[in-house]
Amino acid sequence: MLLIKDASEIFLPNGVQKNASILIEDGRIKKIGKNLKGGKTINARGKTVLPGFVDCHTHTIFAGSREFELEMKLNGASYEDIAKRGGGINYTVRKTRDASFQQLFNESKKRLDRMLEYGTTTAEIKSGYGLDMKSEVKILKVAKKLNEKHEIDIIPTFLGAHAVPPGIGKEEYIESIINEMMPEIEKSKLAKFCDVFCENGYFTVDESRRILQAGKEHGMVPKIHADEFSSGGGAELAAEMGAISADHLLMASDEGIKRMAMAGVNAVLLPTVPFSLMQGRYARARKMMEEGVRVALATDLNPNCWNENMQFVIQLACFKMGMTPREAINGATINAARAIGMEKEIGSIEEGKRADLLIIDAPSHVFIPYHFGVNLVEKVIKNGKVV
Ligand code: NIG
Ligand code: FE
Repeated sequence: MLLIKDASEIFLPNGVQKNASILIEDGRIKKIGKNLKGGKTINARGKTVLPGFVDCHTHTIFAGSREFELEMKLNGASYEDIAKRGGGINYTVRKTRDASFQQLFNESKKRLDRMLEYGTTTAEIKSGYGLDMKSEVKILKVAKKLNEKHEIDIIPTFLGAHAVPPGIGKEEYIESIINEMMPEIEKSKLAKFCDVFCENGYFTVDESRRILQAGKEHGMVPKIHADEFSSGGGAELAAEMGAISADHLLMASDEGIKRMAMAGVNAVLLPTVPFSLMQGRYARARKMMEEGVRVALATDLNPNCWNENMQFVIQLACFKMGMTPREAINGATINAARAIGMEKEIGSIEEGKRADLLIIDAPSHVFIPYHFGVNLVEKVIKNGKVV
């Protein structure tokens, strides 16, 4: 048993409770209230308790780095320009293919350590820097081993359709995704979700539909990188396919947003992406919420946008997308849990839920966006244990 005692504020699904305590038993939240007793006690006077952050969209497993792209971005190069000049996804694919299992594990574990320090207790991780059978399986096996060894719970997604790798035609590559990789991933239970980069120069709406449909037939729930650089019908496809989430959505159309609302597709917004691209607009979070779309937030951690810190994502969501502190924190917790189908277990402070909690060194949740650029997480509690 563990008692978090006399917190200045506890962030609950529909409001806050002031000067209250949380009793934890067997890794779960047993009771929230005043004058609770029992167990080992953490004095939380003056502090805030939040649910652990759920980073529901990451590409954590990759080798190497792309710091050379920064100068290109400063000179006005677009994502597309950089890819044409030898950077981008296929640069990282080369590095990742060359990396051993152990090297990939070690590099990725370091990122997870940092994520945990900044308050992430569950993370989704996509493959997508292997782009052949052997290397995609290697990445998903690294994800599996990280899940076993690391405190952070990892939810794996197959993103074989991240780009077409060199040396193979697109049609041939799509067939290899569907006929070779998917059966193996299903057989070895390596992924819960299937994702596709639906974008000009990557996969069209029709190709994405085919891939996601095949993913469904192999037991994987669809997700989609949609409308990042152009309004290409990605949000509409997410609705049509019954995807659990559509992600990025910087350019999503009004119609796409309406259809997502109707189909109950969660939006996963990644404000570090336009921030680090230094181009493009931020996603229309307010419009989406007005239309009734649930908005989740994530880091998109990848070599183009390298950030492990969900607090920074919340800050950008407030300062750049007009989300309130409560909306942004819900986006980083309960709505993010929804985007990976885990909202019954994690993402909010409720009796019976898993005790994944953060003690924040500030008297209210508003400090997360307000006091920016520092790590306000003082303690991380995962499954009821201080880690
Ligand atoms: O989510 N947009 C596609 N994929 C990643 C970036 C991948 C990369 O540039 O390495 C993303 O932003
Ligand atoms: Fe991504």
